[in-house]
Amino acid sequence: MSALLTAERLELAYGEISACRDVSFHVDVGEIVTLIGANGAGKSTTLRAIAGALLPRTGAIRFRGEDITRLPSYERTGLGISLVPEGRHVFPFLTVRENLELGAFKYRKDGAKVHGLMGKIFDMFPRLHERARQKAGTLSGGEQQMLALGRAMMSEPHLICLDEPSLGLAPLVVQDIFRTIKAINAAGTSVLLVEQNARYALETASRGYVLQTGSIVASGNCATLRNDDRVRQAYLCEALTRTPRSGLSRSSAGSAHPGGGRRLHPRVPSTPRSPACGSPSSSIACSASAASPRPSGRRRARRWVRADAHHHGP
Ligand SMILES: Nc1ncnc2c1ncn2[C@@H]1O[C@H](COP(=O)(O)OP(=O)(O)OP(=O)(O)O)[C@@H](O)[C@H]1O
Ligand SMILES: [Mg+2]
Repeated sequence: MSALLTAERLELAYGEISACRDVSFHVDVGEIVTLIGANGAGKSTTLRAIAGALLPRTGAIRFRGEDITRLPSYERTGLGISLVPEGRHVFPFLTVRENLELGAFKYRKDGAKVHGLMGKIFDMFPRLHERARQKAGTLSGGEQQMLALGRAMMSEPHLICLDEPSLGLAPLVVQDIFRTIKAINAAGTSVLLVEQNARYALETASRGYVLQTGSIVASGNCATLRNDDRVRQAYLCEALTRTPRSGLSRSSAGSAHPGGGRRLHPRVPSTPRSPACGSPSSSIACSASAASPRPSGRRRARRWVRADAHHHGP
């Protein structure tokens, strides 16, 4: 397969604050590739760089062989890169139809084309069709996510970058969203999927990269990553527990998040991050401690995964 997008040794920073170091990955034509990691790992920062909202300090981004590192966002959209940002960011006071029209900005002089694209989006999301005249701000969270996806698809992208599409959605809606992502991919669009819901992400994508405090610490095909002890313990919340009869066995812990994968850290911006939250000062990711009701004293089995574990390389 040929590479569609290549990120080479990106160093990303906000002013003096470094967010990502030496980040390299690629997405081949037709692939779904996922970037997973805890809060503050640098997932959104990486997507911002791909979409052109953040200029890398060093490194390069190539799209279909062309160096786009310094290309402005709107030109990247023209080339076929589309971003669905974290939190969706639909225009609340515009209708569903108007939001979709904005997604087709590059075809604004071709009314028939926009009309045709809108028809395709309405076929994919009948719910949006029903609500075409409704203000986007009055839609449910799931409907807004569908609108954000639909708006991105209106530019007929070769690559769609999704930042946490499952964020804050009910389990059934999350399943719908991931089904839709697969359908979008099956119809020919490559996908770069950023997720905290590692279980769904690793089931949906073919390859993945694990980002931890700004660096890629593991990568590979998703089946391999799902069996990686560090990924299992830190992101799938599975623990190896010792039982009296059978010795070591695998148990699944904490499935508070849809799909059984536990969202590592709830989104409460005012809540200070725990040491396990992937904060820059922390070199550890989540443990399996949220398993069943908290055992007391020595029986409390905590397993931390160190960030300095081996780097598999892309
Ligand atoms: N606008 C900004 N200015 C300064 N620092 C920022 C800014 N945005 C993000 N950061 C920092 O960059 C690092 C990576 O943040 P980023 O938002 O990319 O993480 P993330 O993996 O997307 O996390 P989350 O899962 O919470 O969305 C964090 O340490 C964060 O505090
Ligand atoms: Mg983010």
